Amino acid sequence: MEFVTYQAEGQIGIITINRPKALNALNSVVLEELGKTLEEVDLNTIRALIVTGAGEKSFVAGADISEMCSLTKEEGETFGKKGNDVFRAIETFPVPVIAAVNGYALGGGCELSMSCDIRICSDNAVFGQPEVGLGITPGFGGTQRLARIVGVGKAKEMIYGARNIKAEEAYRIGLVNQVYPLEELMPAAKKLAATIAANAPIAVRNCKKAINEGLQVDMEQALVIEEKLFGGCFETEDQREGMAAFLEKRKVEAFSNK
Ligand code: CAA
Repeated sequence: MEFVTYQAEGQIGIITINRPKALNALNSVVLEELGKTLEEVDLNTIRALIVTGAGEKSFVAGADISEMCSLTKEEGETFGKKGNDVFRAIETFPVPVIAAVNGYALGGGCELSMSCDIRICSDNAVFGQPEVGLGITPGFGGTQRLARIVGVGKAKEMIYGARNIKAEEAYRIGLVNQVYPLEELMPAAKKLAATIAANAPIAVRNCKKAINEGLQVDMEQALVIEEKLFGGCFETEDQREGMAAFLEKRKVEAFSNK
Protein backbone atom coordinates (compact mmCIF):
# COMPACT_ATOMS: atom_id res chain seq x y z
CA MET A 1 0.00 0.00 0.00
CA GLU A 2 1.11 3.53 -0.73
CA PHE A 3 -0.23 5.52 2.21
CA VAL A 4 -1.28 3.09 4.93
CA THR A 5 1.02 0.73 6.80
CA TYR A 6 -0.04 -2.13 9.02
CA GLN A 7 2.05 -3.88 11.59
CA ALA A 8 1.02 -6.69 13.94
CA GLU A 9 2.85 -6.83 17.27
CA GLY A 10 1.57 -9.97 18.97
CA GLN A 11 -2.11 -9.38 19.69
CA ILE A 12 -1.99 -5.68 18.81
CA GLY A 13 -2.39 -4.28 15.30
CA ILE A 14 -1.02 -0.84 14.43
CA ILE A 15 -2.39 1.09 11.47
CA THR A 16 -0.38 4.15 10.43
CA ILE A 17 -1.64 6.77 7.98
CA ASN A 18 1.54 7.54 6.13
CA ARG A 19 1.29 10.50 3.79
CA PRO A 20 3.57 12.98 5.54
CA LYS A 21 3.94 15.33 2.56
CA ALA A 22 0.29 16.31 3.03
CA LEU A 23 0.30 15.92 6.83
CA ASN A 24 -1.45 12.56 6.31
CA ALA A 25 -4.50 14.15 4.67
CA LEU A 26 -7.13 11.67 3.53
CA ASN A 27 -7.54 11.40 -0.21
CA SER A 28 -9.54 8.63 -1.90
CA VAL A 29 -6.55 6.31 -2.07
CA VAL A 30 -5.83 6.66 1.66
CA LEU A 31 -9.49 5.91 2.44
CA GLU A 32 -9.51 2.86 0.17
CA GLU A 33 -6.27 1.57 1.66
CA LEU A 34 -7.57 2.11 5.18
CA GLY A 35 -10.68 0.09 4.30
CA LYS A 36 -8.61 -2.73 2.80
CA THR A 37 -6.28 -2.76 5.80
CA LEU A 38 -9.21 -3.26 8.15
CA GLU A 39 -10.48 -6.17 6.05
CA GLU A 40 -7.10 -7.86 6.27
CA VAL A 41 -6.70 -7.72 10.06
CA ASP A 42 -6.47 -11.27 11.42
CA LEU A 43 -9.22 -11.33 14.00
CA ASN A 44 -8.13 -14.72 15.31
CA THR A 45 -5.00 -13.07 16.66
CA ILE A 46 -5.55 -9.34 16.99
CA ARG A 47 -7.39 -8.16 20.10
CA ALA A 48 -6.93 -4.40 19.85
CA LEU A 49 -6.01 -1.95 17.10
CA ILE A 50 -4.15 1.34 17.28
CA VAL A 51 -4.57 4.02 14.60
CA THR A 52 -1.94 6.74 14.36
CA GLY A 53 -0.28 9.08 11.87
CA ALA A 54 3.27 9.02 10.51
CA GLY A 55 5.67 11.72 11.72
CA GLU A 56 5.71 13.99 14.72
CA LYS A 57 3.43 16.75 13.55
CA SER A 58 0.17 15.37 12.34
CA PHE A 59 -2.27 12.55 13.00
CA VAL A 60 -4.40 13.48 9.97
CA ALA A 61 -4.84 17.09 8.79
CA GLY A 62 -8.25 16.40 7.28
CA ALA A 63 -9.74 15.24 4.06
CA ASP A 64 -7.63 16.22 1.08
CA ILE A 65 -8.59 19.75 0.13
CA SER A 66 -6.87 19.61 -3.27
CA GLU A 67 -8.97 16.56 -4.18
CA MET A 68 -12.20 18.08 -2.83
CA CYS A 69 -11.86 21.55 -4.35
CA SER A 70 -13.45 20.72 -7.71
CA LEU A 71 -16.10 18.19 -6.63
CA THR A 72 -19.69 18.48 -7.85
CA LYS A 73 -22.65 18.00 -5.49
CA GLU A 74 -22.93 14.32 -6.42
CA GLU A 75 -19.19 13.73 -6.16
CA GLY A 76 -19.20 15.47 -2.78
CA GLU A 77 -21.87 13.09 -1.54
CA THR A 78 -19.95 10.10 -2.88
CA PHE A 79 -16.73 11.29 -1.22
CA GLY A 80 -18.60 11.77 2.07
CA LYS A 81 -20.00 8.27 1.82
CA LYS A 82 -16.56 6.86 1.10
CA GLY A 83 -15.20 8.36 4.32
CA ASN A 84 -18.30 7.49 6.30
CA ASP A 85 -18.21 3.85 5.21
CA VAL A 86 -14.58 3.40 6.27
CA PHE A 87 -15.05 5.24 9.57
CA ARG A 88 -18.19 3.24 10.31
CA ALA A 89 -16.15 0.08 9.68
CA ILE A 90 -13.74 1.32 12.37
CA GLU A 91 -16.56 2.22 14.75
CA THR A 92 -18.12 -1.22 14.37
CA PHE A 93 -14.82 -3.08 14.05
CA PRO A 94 -15.10 -6.20 16.22
CA VAL A 95 -12.14 -5.37 18.46
CA PRO A 96 -11.49 -2.04 20.23
CA VAL A 97 -9.68 0.65 18.25
CA ILE A 98 -7.50 3.24 19.99
CA ALA A 99 -6.65 6.52 18.25
CA ALA A 100 -3.12 7.62 19.18
CA VAL A 101 -3.39 11.23 18.03
CA ASN A 102 0.13 12.52 17.42
CA GLY A 103 -0.49 16.11 16.29
CA TYR A 104 -3.10 17.73 14.03
CA ALA A 105 -6.46 15.99 14.04
CA LEU A 106 -8.46 18.40 11.93
CA GLY A 107 -11.62 17.83 9.89
CA GLY A 108 -11.45 14.24 8.67
CA GLY A 109 -8.62 13.64 11.16
CA CYS A 110 -10.77 14.59 14.13
CA GLU A 111 -13.54 12.49 12.56
CA LEU A 112 -11.22 9.50 12.16
CA SER A 113 -10.24 9.73 15.81
CA MET A 114 -13.89 9.94 16.84
CA SER A 115 -14.75 6.74 14.98
CA CYS A 116 -12.27 4.98 17.28
CA ASP A 117 -13.36 3.64 20.66
CA ILE A 118 -10.81 5.57 22.73
CA ARG A 119 -8.68 8.63 21.95
CA ILE A 120 -5.39 9.47 23.60
CA CYS A 121 -3.11 12.21 22.29
CA SER A 122 0.27 13.90 22.46
CA ASP A 123 0.62 17.32 24.03
CA ASN A 124 1.11 18.92 20.59
CA ALA A 125 -2.25 17.61 19.33
CA VAL A 126 -4.80 20.01 17.88
CA PHE A 127 -8.40 18.96 17.30
CA GLY A 128 -11.07 20.71 15.32
CA GLN A 129 -13.68 20.74 12.60
CA PRO A 130 -12.57 23.74 10.53
CA GLU A 131 -14.83 22.91 7.55
CA VAL A 132 -17.16 25.94 7.64
CA GLY A 133 -14.08 28.07 7.02
CA LEU A 134 -13.69 26.15 3.75
CA GLY A 135 -17.35 26.55 2.80
CA ILE A 136 -18.40 22.99 3.65
CA THR A 137 -19.80 21.01 6.56
CA PRO A 138 -17.85 18.25 8.27
CA GLY A 139 -18.38 15.29 5.96
CA PHE A 140 -17.02 12.14 7.59
CA GLY A 141 -19.34 12.03 10.61
CA GLY A 142 -18.14 15.12 12.51
CA THR A 143 -21.56 16.70 12.97
CA GLN A 144 -22.82 13.46 14.49
CA ARG A 145 -19.95 12.05 16.53
CA LEU A 146 -18.57 15.28 18.03
CA ALA A 147 -22.00 16.12 19.45
CA ARG A 148 -22.32 12.63 20.88
CA ILE A 149 -18.87 12.71 22.49
CA VAL A 150 -18.58 16.24 23.89
CA GLY A 151 -22.24 17.30 23.96
CA VAL A 152 -24.32 19.37 21.57
CA GLY A 153 -23.42 22.84 22.87
CA LYS A 154 -19.66 22.35 22.80
CA ALA A 155 -19.81 20.60 19.41
CA LYS A 156 -21.85 23.43 17.90
CA GLU A 157 -19.47 26.03 19.31
CA MET A 158 -16.47 24.25 17.78
CA ILE A 159 -18.11 23.47 14.44
CA TYR A 160 -19.91 26.79 13.83
CA GLY A 161 -16.83 28.75 14.86
CA ALA A 162 -14.32 26.46 13.08
CA ARG A 163 -12.50 26.67 16.39
CA ASN A 164 -9.55 24.34 16.83
CA ILE A 165 -8.64 23.26 20.34
CA LYS A 166 -5.39 22.11 21.90
CA ALA A 167 -4.78 18.84 23.73
CA GLU A 168 -5.52 20.23 27.20
CA GLU A 169 -8.93 21.53 26.18
CA ALA A 170 -9.67 18.29 24.33
CA TYR A 171 -8.93 16.48 27.60
CA ARG A 172 -11.06 18.89 29.64
CA ILE A 173 -14.13 18.42 27.42
CA GLY A 174 -13.76 14.63 27.24
CA LEU A 175 -12.69 14.38 23.62
CA VAL A 176 -9.52 12.54 24.68
CA ASN A 177 -8.96 10.26 27.64
CA GLN A 178 -5.35 11.20 28.31
CA VAL A 179 -2.56 13.51 27.11
CA TYR A 180 1.10 12.42 26.93
CA PRO A 181 4.42 13.91 25.85
CA LEU A 182 4.81 12.90 22.19
CA GLU A 183 7.50 10.27 22.85
CA GLU A 184 5.28 8.59 25.44
CA LEU A 185 2.19 8.42 23.24
CA MET A 186 2.82 5.15 21.38
CA PRO A 187 4.13 3.31 24.45
CA ALA A 188 0.98 4.43 26.29
CA ALA A 189 -1.24 3.34 23.38
CA LYS A 190 0.45 -0.06 23.31
CA LYS A 191 0.11 -0.43 27.07
CA LEU A 192 -3.59 0.38 26.88
CA ALA A 193 -4.02 -2.03 23.96
CA ALA A 194 -2.14 -4.75 25.86
CA THR A 195 -4.38 -4.26 28.89
CA ILE A 196 -7.43 -4.74 26.69
CA ALA A 197 -5.83 -7.68 24.86
CA ALA A 198 -5.18 -9.50 28.14
CA ASN A 199 -8.90 -9.70 28.92
CA ALA A 200 -11.37 -12.24 27.56
CA PRO A 201 -11.64 -11.25 23.88
CA ILE A 202 -15.20 -12.35 23.25
CA ALA A 203 -16.34 -10.52 26.38
CA VAL A 204 -14.48 -7.37 25.25
CA ARG A 205 -16.07 -7.57 21.80
CA ASN A 206 -19.48 -8.06 23.35
CA CYS A 207 -18.93 -4.98 25.55
CA LYS A 208 -18.13 -2.90 22.45
CA LYS A 209 -21.27 -4.14 20.73
CA ALA A 210 -23.43 -3.60 23.81
CA ILE A 211 -22.22 -0.02 24.34
CA ASN A 212 -22.38 0.98 20.66
CA GLU A 213 -25.69 -0.68 19.82
CA GLY A 214 -27.29 0.18 23.16
CA LEU A 215 -26.64 3.89 22.64
CA GLN A 216 -28.73 3.84 19.45
CA VAL A 217 -31.96 2.60 21.09
CA ASP A 218 -34.06 3.30 24.20
CA MET A 219 -33.05 1.88 27.60
CA GLU A 220 -35.53 -1.03 27.49
CA GLN A 221 -34.10 -2.29 24.20
CA ALA A 222 -30.55 -1.45 25.25
CA LEU A 223 -30.83 -3.68 28.29
CA VAL A 224 -32.13 -6.53 26.12
CA ILE A 225 -29.07 -6.09 23.87
CA GLU A 226 -26.87 -6.35 26.97
CA GLU A 227 -28.72 -9.40 28.31
CA LYS A 228 -28.20 -11.30 25.06
CA LEU A 229 -24.50 -10.46 24.84
CA PHE A 230 -24.06 -11.26 28.54
CA GLY A 231 -25.83 -14.59 28.02
CA GLY A 232 -23.66 -15.36 25.00
CA CYS A 233 -20.55 -15.22 27.17
CA PHE A 234 -21.73 -18.29 29.08
CA GLU A 235 -21.17 -20.37 25.96
CA THR A 236 -17.45 -19.52 25.95
CA GLU A 237 -14.45 -21.38 27.28
CA ASP A 238 -13.07 -18.06 28.46
CA GLN A 239 -16.02 -17.53 30.84
CA ARG A 240 -15.44 -20.97 32.35
CA GLU A 241 -11.71 -20.34 32.67
CA GLY A 242 -12.14 -16.77 34.03
CA MET A 243 -14.56 -17.85 36.75
CA ALA A 244 -12.73 -21.09 37.56
CA ALA A 245 -9.50 -19.11 38.02
CA PHE A 246 -11.24 -16.75 40.44
CA LEU A 247 -12.78 -19.58 42.44
CA GLU A 248 -9.52 -21.52 42.53
CA LYS A 249 -7.64 -18.37 43.61
CA ARG A 250 -5.25 -18.46 40.69
CA LYS A 251 -4.54 -16.21 37.72
CA VAL A 252 -5.93 -16.86 34.27
CA GLU A 253 -3.04 -18.23 32.23
CA ALA A 254 -4.32 -16.88 28.94
CA PHE A 255 -7.77 -16.44 27.45
CA SER A 256 -8.25 -18.65 24.40
CA ASN A 257 -10.71 -16.48 22.43
CA LYS A 258 -13.16 -19.38 22.41
N1 CAA B 1 -5.54 18.57 2.37
C1 CAA B 1 -4.56 18.63 1.46
N2 CAA B 1 -3.30 19.02 1.74
C2 CAA B 1 -3.04 19.37 3.00
C3 CAA B 1 -4.03 19.33 4.01
C4 CAA B 1 -5.34 18.89 3.66
N3 CAA B 1 -6.32 18.78 4.54
N4 CAA B 1 -3.48 19.76 5.17
C5 CAA B 1 -2.19 20.03 4.91
N5 CAA B 1 -1.91 19.81 3.60
C6 CAA B 1 -0.66 19.99 2.90
C7 CAA B 1 -0.39 21.45 2.63
O1 CAA B 1 -1.08 21.89 1.45
C8 CAA B 1 1.12 21.47 2.46
O2 CAA B 1 1.41 20.99 1.17
P1 CAA B 1 2.58 21.70 0.29
O3 CAA B 1 3.83 21.52 1.12
O4 CAA B 1 2.59 20.92 -0.97
O5 CAA B 1 2.20 23.13 0.17
C9 CAA B 1 1.57 20.41 3.45
O6 CAA B 1 0.41 19.60 3.73
C10 CAA B 1 2.04 21.00 4.76
O7 CAA B 1 1.02 21.85 5.25
P2 CAA B 1 1.26 23.36 5.71
O8 CAA B 1 2.39 23.96 4.94
O9 CAA B 1 -0.04 24.06 5.65
O10 CAA B 1 1.73 23.13 7.22
P3 CAA B 1 1.58 24.13 8.43
O11 CAA B 1 2.37 23.56 9.54
O12 CAA B 1 1.84 25.52 8.02
O13 CAA B 1 0.01 24.05 8.84
C11 CAA B 1 -2.07 22.97 9.28
C12 CAA B 1 -0.54 22.87 9.32
C13 CAA B 1 -2.57 24.02 10.26
C14 CAA B 1 -2.64 21.60 9.65
C15 CAA B 1 -2.53 23.35 7.85
O14 CAA B 1 -1.90 22.49 6.92
C16 CAA B 1 -4.00 23.25 7.62
O15 CAA B 1 -4.73 24.13 8.06
N6 CAA B 1 -4.46 22.20 6.91
C17 CAA B 1 -5.83 22.04 6.57
C18 CAA B 1 -6.66 21.62 7.77
C19 CAA B 1 -8.12 21.52 7.39
O16 CAA B 1 -8.76 22.48 7.06
N7 CAA B 1 -8.68 20.29 7.48
C20 CAA B 1 -10.05 20.02 7.16
C21 CAA B 1 -10.18 19.60 5.74
S1 CAA B 1 -11.87 19.50 5.23
C22 CAA B 1 -12.41 18.01 5.77
O17 CAA B 1 -11.72 17.27 6.43
C23 CAA B 1 -13.81 17.69 5.36
C24 CAA B 1 -14.38 16.47 5.96
O18 CAA B 1 -14.88 16.47 7.06
C25 CAA B 1 -14.48 15.26 5.17
